[in-house]
Amino acid sequence: MPKVTFQGGPDPAITVEAEPGQTLLEIAEEHHVKMGSACGGVCACSSCHCWIRSGEASLEEATEREEDRMDMGFDVRPYSRLGCQVRVAQADLVVELTEESVTTWYNEHPEHRPG
Ligand code: FES
Repeated sequence: MPKVTFQGGPDPAITVEAEPGQTLLEIAEEHHVKMGSACGGVCACSSCHCWIRSGEASLEEATEREEDRMDMGFDVRPYSRLGCQVRVAQADLVVELTEESVTTWYNEHPEHRPG
């Protein structure tokens, strides 16, 4: 089974096993990783924006819809993707949470906000 490492954000990096075909957002939610999902995972915001630091070549290319939505994101880079649209293939991935995504997660879970 492929492994996905989530890094960035306030928590230490975590590596988890994933099923091929699962989205990064599904995996993040399953493991309490702070990936935002303002639209509920239907490609209608950019709050699940993440950077694929390793393993990107194994992934299907972004659809036009994902690309369009990504244009709404902050600090978009060549290896940017939307976590709700990326499906894990066979290779391991390293995924970095963006500040935009973590901020949205805290807005959705204010009870977990530090301080
Ligand atoms: S959760 Fe809104 S685009 Fe991914």
